[in-house]
Amino acid sequence: MSSTSGKMMQSSIGKKLLMGLTGLFLVSFLIVHCLLNSFIFFNDGGLLFNQGAKFMATNPIIRAMEYVLFLGLIIHMLQALILTMQNNKARPVKYVMQGNEANSKWYSRSMGLLGTLLLLFLIIHLAHFWVKSRFTGLPGEDANGNENLYAVMQDVFHIWWVVVIYVAGVISLAYHLLHGFQSAFQTLGWNHPKYTPTIKKIGMFFSIIISLIFALMPICIYFGCIK
Ligand code: HEM
Repeated sequence: MSSTSGKMMQSSIGKKLLMGLTGLFLVSFLIVHCLLNSFIFFNDGGLLFNQGAKFMATNPIIRAMEYVLFLGLIIHMLQALILTMQNNKARPVKYVMQGNEANSKWYSRSMGLLGTLLLLFLIIHLAHFWVKSRFTGLPGEDANGNENLYAVMQDVFHIWWVVVIYVAGVISLAYHLLHGFQSAFQTLGWNHPKYTPTIKKIGMFFSIIISLIFALMPICIYFGCIK
């Protein structure tokens, strides 16, 4: 990195840019993750899903992307933490609320809280699936001879309070994305009176739909709609 771009990334706007870029990258991960997991809705005992999971686990490009994903996540979280600390330092006394509610939505003012809830969800989630699939091993194979990651899903989502944690996690995701999506476009300077309302609508649609599909996974398994 040149010294000019180095300084840029250390500045407040540089940090926001990096947050926006890593945020959009994480969104692309969520789309792939959601599509692949949606194979469970074929209700074929997880055969197609396990096939997809095998491809993801054995494809060298996808495996390499896993490192980029975790790096992206860490940068996104660190920048958020640094930006929050800088803002608090610059403004030690909190604003006296002057119609703040009308100026911004509660979830735009609660990105730190929503992000922390998401992090807690992610730690539980990785322990449920990723640690088992990468490190501790899966419970046998399915009818096609693929590792049975779907059996783990069946186990995990038969416990009601786990389902509640997942639904709460994806609700936090929905609100985090609701602000994050449009904010990323704004920070990247893609702001236009003609296109911004459309970007906002797409962001809202995306945040709600992707979170709804994710929420339906534990719910459908728990209630036995997917076997
Ligand atoms: C609620 C429904 C969800 C289900 C059923 C689900 C399922 C899974 C499964 C089975 C894995 C292991 C994949 C493998 O090792 O091959 C995984 C990994 C992962 N999930 Fe989820 N997931 C869900 C939601 C989410 C959400 C909302 C996020 C992010 C906020 C997320 C982030 C991750 C990450 C970062 C990994 C590890 C990276 C990877 O495997 O490439 N998941 N998930």
